[in-house]
Amino acid sequence: MNDEYPTDDIDLLSSPVTLPNGVVIHNRLVKAAMEEGLAGGLPGRRHRRLYRRWGRGGWGVVLTGNVQVDAAQPATPHDLRIYDSPHTVPLFHELHESLLADAPEPKPLTLVQLNHAGMQSSATYSLTRAPWVPSVGPTSGRPSVGRGLMAWVIERTLWPVAARAVTNPAEWCEIAGKFVDAATAVEDAGWGGVQVHAAHGYLLAEYLSPLTNPHPRPLPGVPERIPVRLHLLWLILTGIHAATERRFVKALKINCSDFVSGGLDEDAAAAVIREIVSWRLVDIFEVSGGTYGNPAFAEMGREALFAHFTRALLPTLPPAPEGPAIMLTGGLHDRSLIARCIRSRAADLAGIGRPAALFPELPVRVLLNRALGPEKARVAPYSIPGSEFYRRLLGGGKSSRPGRERNGVVARRDDGIKLVGAGVSTVWHEWQMARIGRGEDPDVRLDFLRGALTNTLWHDILGGGPRWWFRRWMGTD
Ligand SMILES: Cc1cc2nc3c(=O)[nH]c(=O)nc-3n(C[C@H](O)[C@H](O)[C@H](O)COP(=O)(O)O)c2cc1C
Repeated sequence: MNDEYPTDDIDLLSSPVTLPNGVVIHNRLVKAAMEEGLAGGLPGRRHRRLYRRWGRGGWGVVLTGNVQVDAAQPATPHDLRIYDSPHTVPLFHELHESLLADAPEPKPLTLVQLNHAGMQSSATYSLTRAPWVPSVGPTSGRPSVGRGLMAWVIERTLWPVAARAVTNPAEWCEIAGKFVDAATAVEDAGWGGVQVHAAHGYLLAEYLSPLTNPHPRPLPGVPERIPVRLHLLWLILTGIHAATERRFVKALKINCSDFVSGGLDEDAAAAVIREIVSWRLVDIFEVSGGTYGNPAFAEMGREALFAHFTRALLPTLPPAPEGPAIMLTGGLHDRSLIARCIRSRAADLAGIGRPAALFPELPVRVLLNRALGPEKARVAPYSIPGSEFYRRLLGGGKSSRPGRERNGVVARRDDGIKLVGAGVSTVWHEWQMARIGRGEDPDVRLDFLRGALTNTLWHDILGGGPRWWFRRWMGTD
């Protein structure tokens, strides 16, 4: 326990954090990055409606879902994308205005998460390129989603061709340049900063992983003292630093472990984080874990994922503002639990994902609401109505309930395809955000089949999805 913190939990959660660049975050609660489940491309009306609700919520920081820096290589068809268009900066500016329109004072820090989906980008799911055009990564191959026939079918359906290995250093520098250009567009649009996504098995995580990048080669312009596996991140972070103002916040999301044999493990992740902290280019570090093949970050019903890692890490780092603020995300859905994590120095900031899709005003209504005692100031565990059948049908294992714990992560009771379980939960939460975007309220009792019929079939496909996407692409939504 640390007695420099307020003893009252609400006072603690409402206390400010100063970042190394001098920006002050007014409380400890962060709406974590969640891809919004709306039409992909540039932000439109529905995004503005959704972000306006989050703006009212009293969050200390609001992070967008992942915004792709390469429009042809997104993670899902729903991803926002930054590309060279006269509409890009104005539409991101409008989104930012909507987010702050009803936000109580002091206003939240606003961050855009920048991503490149790397080998996990699926041409057949995202429909942004022909099925025979491969995704790119540090190596060739397909992401693995598990063993057995269903896993084989899913892999070949999502990735009909194997990823193309990027071997030319100039192409890596071009990719770094896309992150830097995207960050400057975000700054021009008025946002408070960016978060670079180097977790969850996307391109930058693949570059860090010994499994997918076994023989990294030096990139031009990077000093020799920088470990070669970090060259790409160094180019991106120094590039963003040079191209934007000091007060423009730079955040980085990184895995504490990929939870995949041969991938980034906890010792390597701690060394990577310590090295990057020494560069003094990052204001906020978010710690997560897993890839879409083994999505540890998406475990349901478990508290404070990855706190064992950050609790060991934080005492070895300079505390904010001398060092970056550390944000922990995953299973922090309870006021007392968040307060315990901050007091035990497992985190400076608490990232909250799924509950923010169901309760966009979670801080003001629940976590910081003095009318609610500690036993009520939480999001009680919930299950997704009617989802179990589809989870099993698609090979997602016999049960979504947690099983035994290993290395701080709880395995499901059955070794089914974890991507399926995570996918079912992800789309259901996306439907909730899409409801808010349409001006409806989220519905915790939304049956999975009803969600699929109303949201995916009707709103996305039959009821004008393609028309919408086209209007978004043209910047006229
Ligand atoms: C619908 C949905 C979309 C997500 N999209 C992203 C994303 O775009 N970028 C990201 O870093 N994490 C994403 N995540 C992961 C969340 O940021 C978070 O790490 C995860 O939900 C665990 O936190 P929670 O227990 O508070 O939900 C997503 C999660 C969900 C449920």
